[in-house]
This record gives sequence, C-alpha cells and structure tokens, in this order.
Amino acid sequence: MARDFDVIVFGATGYTGEHISRELHALASKGGAWQGVAWAIGGRSQLKLSAMASKHGLTPAGVVIADTADAASLRSMTARAKVVMNATGPYRFYGEAVVEACIATKTDYVDLCGEPEFIDRCLLKHADAAEAAGVLIVHACAFDSIPADIGCLFTALQYPPPGLCAHADMYHTFDVAADAKGAAAHATTFYAAVHGFGGVGATRAQRKDSPPTCPLVISCCLLGHLPLATCHPLLAPHDVPPA
Ligand SMILES: NC(=O)c1ccc[n+]([C@@H]2O[C@H](COP(=O)([O-])OP(=O)(O)OC[C@H]3O[C@@H](n4cnc5c(N)ncnc54)[C@H](OP(=O)(O)O)[C@@H]3O)[C@@H](O)[C@H]2O)c1
Repeated sequence: MARDFDVIVFGATGYTGEHISRELHALASKGGAWQGVAWAIGGRSQLKLSAMASKHGLTPAGVVIADTADAASLRSMTARAKVVMNATGPYRFYGEAVVEACIATKTDYVDLCGEPEFIDRCLLKHADAAEAAGVLIVHACAFDSIPADIGCLFTALQYPPPGLCAHADMYHTFDVAADAKGAAAHATTFYAAVHGFGGVGATRAQRKDSPPTCPLVISCCLLGHLPLATCHPLLAPHDVPPA
C-alpha cells in the first residue's frame, strides 16, 4: 500500500519529539541516504505543531493530527506512514493505542520507552497480532537502552568461539552543566519513573505471564528495518529488580 510519508514523529510537540524532528530535518537536509525521505510531524494540536516547526525552521512533508484518546484518528494517522516514531508518554497510559493502530494499519512502530510494564504488556497482548500482520513493534530505542544494547553486543563479539559472553554489567555516568544544582529529568520522564517504581510489583506479576521465548529485537536501524542488535538469550533487555 502506498503511504504518504516514510516516517511520522508522533508527539512532535514534546521535549523528545521536538529533538527527533530537528534531527530528522538535519539528516534530510544533508542529502545522502536521507535525500527525499518524507518525514512528517504528528500530535493533537495543529497550532502547537506548526509553532514548533516554525520555531526551528523545520520543513516536514506534512502535519498530521491525532489523539491517543481517539482510535479512529490514530488509525488515520498510522495508515499514512511506513513507520511511526512514538514520542508520546508516559507509554503506560498513551502507548498501547498507538501500537494497536499500527498493527491495524500494518505500520512499523518504534518508541523510546523505558517502562518495562508497557513493553511486557505489548509483548503479551500484541506480539501475535503484530507477527501475523508482519509489523515491527520496536520498543526502547533510547538513551537507557541503545548504549547498553550496543555495548553488550560489542562486548559479546569480543569473545572468539567457543568463548561466550554470559553476562555484562553496564554503568552510566551523567555530567550535568556546571551551573546546575544536581541532576534533572524532564517532567514526563519523572512521571513515568514514579509510576514505574510504584507499580514494580504488578510488573513482576505480569512478567510471570510472559512467554519465555519472546522474539525480542531491541534496537533497529530505522529506515532499513535492519536489526542492529538482538537480545542475547542470557542478557535481560530491560530489568525488573529481583523480588
Ligand atoms: N528511555 C529513555 O531514555 C527516554 C528518554 C527520554 C524520554 N523518554 C520517554 O519518552 C516519553 C516522552 O517524554 P518527553 O519528555 O518528550 O514528554 P513531553 O515533553 O511531556 O511530551 C509528551 C508528548 O506527548 C503528547 N501527548 C500527550 N498526551 C497525548 C494525547 N492524548 N494524544 C496525543 N499526544 C499526546 C504531548 O502533546 P501536547 O504537546 O499536545 O501535550 C507531547 O507531544 C516519556 O514517556 C519519557 O519517559 C524515554
């Protein structure tokens, strides 16, 4: 089916969606592999989307209006794209409707979710439908996932067979601006973290229901849909603290 856009950034008015849009604009302006890539911005407010685009001088191929509370508007949006990059959050509240719309319209989906409860719920409820529809649902393409995935993959590849990397610990360090007072997180990330820690018992219980051999592809090269790193069977992709 022909699509109007290669990519729609949904939630483009948010902190992260704005960054993603600016990066796509910069890449598309560079030419090369990105020459002619039709990327669009999506969200629930035409006014806010247009203001964001003009503030940064962005030239998306389109502006699409959809609200997570309106399933029909989501399906109209997802039907127009090959890939939806979902930057609306917290995902535990807003993500599932977007995943469902993508599966219904056979649109690939990627997000930057760091919320294990949501990722597990999608696997439990939607993995079969996504597979049957031939749709990629790719979670956790973000700071707290991609460096860890690529770091683990790199480490695992350093072991010549029959050597096997069975476990890797990953450490992040943060630098804050010299004039900042302590570390900071954006409000929605903080909100997602509060619900994440508050609901860890329910997440553990849900994980007990998870199928043991989920086909996890935890990072991807977006436009080529090429798996760049797959979960090593002995490395957990997103950890829940042990009970
Ligand atoms: N894993 C990581 O490393 C990582 C890093 C950064 C962020 N994140 C996650 O990414 C998500 C976004 O974070 P953020 O800081 O960018 O949040 P944000 O600035 O608050 O942006 C949220 C976006 O969601 C949109 N939205 C909210 N409700 C909606 C609805 N009903 N229909 C359509 N759009 C709706 C907002 O639109 P309006 O402008 O219209 O309100 C806005 O565009 C969060 O879940 C956060 O935890 C993860």
